[in-house]
Amino acid sequence: MYKKIIVFEGIDGSGKTYHINEVSKYLTKKKIRFIKIREPGGSKNSEVIRNFILNKKSNLKKKTDLLLYLAARNENFENLIKPNINKKVILLDRFVCSTVAYQHYGFKINKSIIKSLNNFILGNIKPNFTFLHIVPPKNIKKNISGRKNKYDSFNKNFYKKVQSGFLKILKNDKNKYIIDASRTKKYNMEIIRKKINRLLRINDK
Ligand code: TYD
Repeated sequence: MYKKIIVFEGIDGSGKTYHINEVSKYLTKKKIRFIKIREPGGSKNSEVIRNFILNKKSNLKKKTDLLLYLAARNENFENLIKPNINKKVILLDRFVCSTVAYQHYGFKINKSIIKSLNNFILGNIKPNFTFLHIVPPKNIKKNISGRKNKYDSFNKNFYKKVQSGFLKILKNDKNKYIIDASRTKKYNMEIIRKKINRLLRINDK
């Protein structure tokens, strides 16, 4: 079987978690072995770190957050990604792009430091394909009203900066597809399924 790392990216409330869950159901139906990892989170230790970073009372400094996101990523890399890379498809709900988009374009932490830390952890492992979800500006924040992690309280301008960061990071990446989050779930899922078929060489006839 053809193994791949497939990442779902986008700002909060952009629908990526819905799509990754639908893709998981599809791969299960097709009997394709995969693992699904959310970041931050994933492995046992990474979930502990997730709760530490994202709970509403957290008042960690932005550089502390960065180091914790990367600590959580390293736990996933060692425990989940590395052992499965040649065995299963790896689906990731957020990955390196999120760190550059939020910590650099959102919080202005030096980009080359973020890149070096990611290289330190991942070496030459990188995603084979990224689905980037883009939310039309008028809908930013609308989709996350009522949710409750610490990032949900940032203003619309912050999310605009992060979203344009995602677009800059992936601008010249040929292995990406931009999902318009304002289209229906059914429409988007149909496109994603076709891309997944091509990537994983699934014959869906
Ligand atoms: P989560 O509840 O998973 O958000 P969503 O369901 O919208 O994906 O929260 C993850 C938050 O962590 C999200 O606001 C983005 C942030 N984040 C970073 O700032 N840097 C990172 O490297 C990662 C992985 C996430």
